[in-house]
Amino acid sequence: RTVYVNGNFLPEEEATVSVFDRGFLFADAIYEVTSVLDGKLIDFSGHMTRLHRSLDALGMAMPMKDADLLAIHRELVSRNALSEGLVYLQISRGAEDRDFAFPGPDVPPTVVLFTQEKQIIESALVKRGQKVITTDDLRWRRCDIKTVQLLWASIVKNEAKAKGADDAWMVRDGYVTEGSSNNAYIVTTDGTIVTRDISNDILAGITRTAVLKCAAEIGVTVEERAFTVAEAKAAREAFSTSATGFVTPVIAIDGEPVGDGKPGPVAARLREIYIEMSR
Ligand code: PDD
Repeated sequence: RTVYVNGNFLPEEEATVSVFDRGFLFADAIYEVTSVLDGKLIDFSGHMTRLHRSLDALGMAMPMKDADLLAIHRELVSRNALSEGLVYLQISRGAEDRDFAFPGPDVPPTVVLFTQEKQIIESALVKRGQKVITTDDLRWRRCDIKTVQLLWASIVKNEAKAKGADDAWMVRDGYVTEGSSNNAYIVTTDGTIVTRDISNDILAGITRTAVLKCAAEIGVTVEERAFTVAEAKAAREAFSTSATGFVTPVIAIDGEPVGDGKPGPVAARLREIYIEMSR
């Protein structure tokens, strides 16, 4: 694989980042994941808008123009002949002697990009549907910033796997926030889609915005509000969205089937429309 580090396209074996990098020492870095379908970047401008917001929130400067980042994304897709998968972008506050205080503006950020192949269209998880567990959301209170501080998300994902499930829906004060790396949705018995409203408690998914637009287009009512675990378990259908998962049905919560325990029609329809729209 060819990867990108600080101005250079290199074979992955030759790419290095300093041990003093603040991304490594402090999780002082932000990231974006853009999916690739038929060699085409999906929703790139949305990801750039959110990247700007994450950088602003942490007082970090944009290391280059959006157009330059786009060119690097495209170059990596091309060099790696990537047809389906993702491009990962990470920007850290750079490398300097370990110090809790931020380094001065003369320290350049570390910019890393790489590609990863992933089956998006023919996903086994989409066909089968995911089983999720519910667990405490113990993340910090700025989940709206896409930082690489992903330890709790990683812990709950592993907790889910250990219990024979696929993912975890995190819960704060009795209400579902989101999945380990995706936004969470239910479809109520009257056919309304419910997903948590945007706040510091969740990441504003780029796929979320697109899928809610698709829902509006097909005339499905959407309520952006928090929902409880009990509500989710009583729902007709449930699903999640993310750049790499698109729309993925949820068929069980804490071992209890959602609806008839099979992937639901609303998720399937939204997935279809979103793929159509992206192609
Ligand atoms: N995760 N919520 C969380 C906590 C996420 O990490 C993600 C994305 C989402 C969905 O956002 P989007 O639709 O923009 O991908 C919601 C990426 C895919 C990841 O960490 O790999």
